[in-house]
Parts: sequence; C-alpha cells; structure tokens
Amino acid sequence: MQIGRLNHIGIATPDVEAAARTWAQLYGAIRAHDAFDMPRQGVRVKFIDLPNSQIELLEPLGEASPLTGFLQRFPAGGQHHVCFEVADILAARDAMVERGARVLGDGEPYIGAHGVPVIFVHPKDTGGVLVELMQQPEEH
Ligand code: CO
Repeated sequence: MQIGRLNHIGIATPDVEAAARTWAQLYGAIRAHDAFDMPRQGVRVKFIDLPNSQIELLEPLGEASPLTGFLQRFPAGGQHHVCFEVADILAARDAMVERGARVLGDGEPYIGAHGVPVIFVHPKDTGGVLVELMQQPEEH
C-alpha cells in the first residue's frame, strides 16, 4: 500500500458557513459547495474547492458528535485531519493493521463525505496527525 494524492484538509469549526466566509474573504477561496449533514458521523460538512485539493469544513451535528471534544479543546476550531487517496481501501486497511497502526471504529471502511469508502488512522500512530484514507474516486 502506497499513499496517494492529497484529497482534502479537514478543519473543525463551530460554524461551517462563517468559516467559509473567512476563507473567501481572507484567501479568495470562493468556490464553496452547499453544506450537507452526515448524521451517522455527527458532522455537518462544507467543501471548498482549491486548485489542487479541497478544504473540508466540519461542524458538530448532534449531541454525540466526535467533534464536540475537539472544539472544547480548541473553541475557535482548528486543523482536524488530512485525507489522502489510496487505490484500494481494503488493501490500505489491511496494510495499516499489518504495519501496527490503529484504524478507528470497528476497522471497517464506511462511506465518507465524497461517497466513497474511507478509514481513519489514529493520530497517535502518525505523530499527532489524524489521517483519513479514502478510496480513490473513479474519475482520476
Ligand atoms: Co475528511
């Protein structure tokens, strides 16, 4: 298993719309998509297109959101994860386990915000960085 293209940078924020305005006003990042909810993951998501990647703005959704603890530590928000594409998500999952990394949850890929399977690797295994691995979309 070899890491692929950077797909997006995940940023936690208390308000995805306010954060999108900030990225537009400060950095000219104007190509924002409509926000949508992922109730099972406990997040509201808003993507901003960049020339070579995306920013994924994430806001807590519901009581049990995994972002609640993060925003208690960093109330203004902050960088949450980085996402890289892989050619085969199941092979990537197996490689992570074989190489001694901890895959979050039950270890099974699930459908992420781009509609393709993803896994998350524990930040303690990557020097404090939460890493999302994502099945490479078909169009690449
Ligand atoms: Co992500």
